[in-house]
Amino acid sequence: MSKILITGGLGFIGHHLAINLSQKGHKITVLDNLSRPISNIIISSKIKDKNYNWEYLDEFHPKIEKKIIDIRDREKVTAIIQNFKPEIIIHAAGQTSAVGSIENPRFDFENNIIGLFNILNSAKESQIVTDFLYISTNKVYGNNVSNIPLIEGKTRYIPEEKKFTGFSETLSVDHSIHTPYGVSKLAGDLYVQEFGKIYGMKNTVFRLSCIYGDQQFGIPGQGFISYMFLNAISGKPIQIYGNGKQVRDILYIDDLSNLVERYLASTSSLNPKIFNQKSRVYNIGGGINNTISLLELIGKFESILGKKIEIEFSNWRLGDQKLYISDLTKIYSEFGWKPNINPEQGIERLTNWIEKSKDIFFN
Ligand SMILES: NC(=O)c1ccc[n+]([C@@H]2O[C@H](COP(=O)([O-])OP(=O)(O)OC[C@H]3O[C@@H](n4cnc5c(N)ncnc54)[C@H](O)[C@@H]3O)[C@@H](O)[C@H]2O)c1
Repeated sequence: MSKILITGGLGFIGHHLAINLSQKGHKITVLDNLSRPISNIIISSKIKDKNYNWEYLDEFHPKIEKKIIDIRDREKVTAIIQNFKPEIIIHAAGQTSAVGSIENPRFDFENNIIGLFNILNSAKESQIVTDFLYISTNKVYGNNVSNIPLIEGKTRYIPEEKKFTGFSETLSVDHSIHTPYGVSKLAGDLYVQEFGKIYGMKNTVFRLSCIYGDQQFGIPGQGFISYMFLNAISGKPIQIYGNGKQVRDILYIDDLSNLVERYLASTSSLNPKIFNQKSRVYNIGGGINNTISLLELIGKFESILGKKIEIEFSNWRLGDQKLYISDLTKIYSEFGWKPNINPEQGIERLTNWIEKSKDIFFN
């Protein structure tokens, strides 16, 4: 049993990780400043006036301790680490929207770089924290992923190279358009790696692709599967930037939770020297077998809802990736992990949850 602090622990990924690790016997504290933006489609007071995940953890997982703390507040961050004395920190807090970061780059910088630095540096100074897991993103590669030749199929882009297995961790992060969000996450990603190398911390970076699942409150530009389905059931047209053939590898949240649990179980007992003999940066997503394009996703929604969905097309967004697929070779070869839930199953689970929880969104 470890003491684990999860930042952003009332957000989508953070609270799922908290629940899973708590159920496995770990002592969990989550911190969050309840700043997750809400989509313009959601009208329910359950979400607008309250934090739904806070209420949910209160009701169903009372063992998880919750603290309202802003990671930009260095003193409070230091204090919680000193008081709770976590052995492991999972850093999932932050500004999460690429679109939002273009509109307000300072806000993105302060949350994603200063906030990360406060947590990481306090972890180092505490001498208590042994393991630090940073939730990074594929956006650190920016549009370098556009450098492979693609064929434009009827519903999706297809890599010309037949043996393409996805983008590996060796893809360059330079000479690319990232968006301020991609830059701030990359800065955090490099800080975490650097502190591992210089200070002998056991630091890990998971560069996530698209994670989706129940209790995801999608907004424009983040959590697209959930956001688009909310549009679809409320009869609103779905906005697509570009032609809708962009491809993503998608990973259901339960698969990510299982990976984090498995990863921590097999690495937390390693001493720093052994741990740091390997690069601890991993691309994580659905991989080559779990991909979907936006047009294909809308097609699935149409069969689920039994109706035609209106689409509004606009110009491509800055830095948008035509195709992103994580190469899972490294994580699989080191930990034997691969996704279990395919897009069919995952989308069915998510859309079932949204349909049965309509009152959370719309009453
Ligand atoms: N969901 C995905 O598909 C995805 C993909 C790649 C990377 N990520 C990364 O995973 C992490 C979690 O994403 P998510 O999907 O759970 O998003 P989320 O918005 O649901 O969760 C983020 C949480 O951080 C909190 N937060 C924001 N600023 C804070 C601050 N200053 N102090 C304290 N708390 C703060 C928010 O209130 C929110 O609850 C993010 O760092 C994101 O960049 C997510």
